[in-house]
Amino acid sequence: MTKGMPPALVVLIGAPGSGKSALAARWFKPHQILCLDELRLRLTDDEGLREATVETEVVRLRAEMLHIRLSRGLTTCIDATNVRAEYRAELLAAAAAHQMPAHAIVVETSAWDCRKQNEARRAAGGRYVPPAVVRKLYTAMRESVGYHGPVAGFDITRRIRLTPEFDSRVYGSTRQYRGAPWLA
Ligand SMILES: Nc1ncnc2c1ncn2[C@@H]1O[C@H](COP(=O)(O)OP(=O)(O)O)[C@@H](O)[C@H]1O
Ligand SMILES: [Mg+2]
Repeated sequence: MTKGMPPALVVLIGAPGSGKSALAARWFKPHQILCLDELRLRLTDDEGLREATVETEVVRLRAEMLHIRLSRGLTTCIDATNVRAEYRAELLAAAAAHQMPAHAIVVETSAWDCRKQNEARRAAGGRYVPPAVVRKLYTAMRESVGYHGPVAGFDITRRIRLTPEFDSRVYGSTRQYRGAPWLA
């Protein structure tokens, strides 16, 4: 879904279970996505492992991959919660260093739907994030990016509210999201 799109750094922002990875898979080719969970899985066989040294390595690896891709002018999607400004700052700095536009996609799925989708993911054999963590990161997302308006530092902000009921519209058509340059 990136055909004809001007190259950009696209940063997903959303709580666990909000549907970021599903959206990324829909709109980007797998090799265009840098996903912290996937890198953690590659390094440790456990995408949910929370260990400070692993986290440092995973973030460093992602930064290297990001710089290489951006230096080549390649569209790159960052799949992580990115709910705090300090997490986003290094991504914005990388985009600026390579004169790449930075786009934010805020996945505003309600806390309730994040929880439901987190449970659905577990039922499907995927990752399960403790509900307290989902709630905490949802709250952090709202505190950081509010309910409307642009996300500070980004050239373009898109806000997308996914609900399970919305699924066929969201995934069946990109009509609603025309106007985003990366969907041109
Ligand atoms: N709009 C949607 N409707 C129905 N199911 C969805 C939707 N978005 C995501 N899902 C499902 O919900 C679960 C969580 O989505 P995922 O993309 O893994 O979230 P995140 O990457 O934000 O943690 C997955 O099982 C996914 O298939
Ligand atoms: Mg994900």
